[in-house]
Amino acid sequence: MADITLISGSTLGGAEYVAEHLAEKLEDAGFSTDTQHGPLLEDLTLSGIWLLVSSTHGAGDIPDNLLPLYEELQAQSPDLSAVRFGSVGIGSREYDTFCGAIDKLDEALVACGAKQIGETLKINVLEHEIPEDPAEVWLGSWKNLL
Ligand SMILES: Cc1cc2nc3c(=O)[nH]c(=O)nc-3n(C[C@H](O)[C@H](O)[C@H](O)COP(=O)(O)O)c2cc1C
Repeated sequence: MADITLISGSTLGGAEYVAEHLAEKLEDAGFSTDTQHGPLLEDLTLSGIWLLVSSTHGAGDIPDNLLPLYEELQAQSPDLSAVRFGSVGIGSREYDTFCGAIDKLDEALVACGAKQIGETLKINVLEHEIPEDPAEVWLGSWKNLL
């Protein structure tokens, strides 16, 4: 099992690039990683450390590729008490529902017993043309909490 499983939710690919960039930085720091774009529950080991990276679409909606996992979490309430997780949301402040998807995902994980490590980073793409940059800064402190 990898030290850290990165889980991305993306419609246009931006959050996937951020997840891959963070995986690379974690590998550089000596962690092993497994990056999954839009996995289902059956693709995941329900223990260890997860790092979620998700953009928001629609009106605060979870990207299509991560919606099945979210629905499984709600329908099945798997026991995630052995999971610790961090979260990175990507969105635009022009929407009232700024980073709504990562809020929903955080809530769903906590409802299943997972414990959050650190605070959720919410990246405003209007402010950060390259979302990898603030994500990398956040990762620097987050990995010290593991
Ligand atoms: C149709 C549409 C709806 C969006 N809705 C939201 C939203 O409700 N909240 C938010 O924070 N960002 C919203 N965004 C901004 C996206 O989250 C942002 O552009 C992000 O970088 C897309 O990432 P992705 O390439 O991983 O899909 C929306 C973008 C589009 C195109």
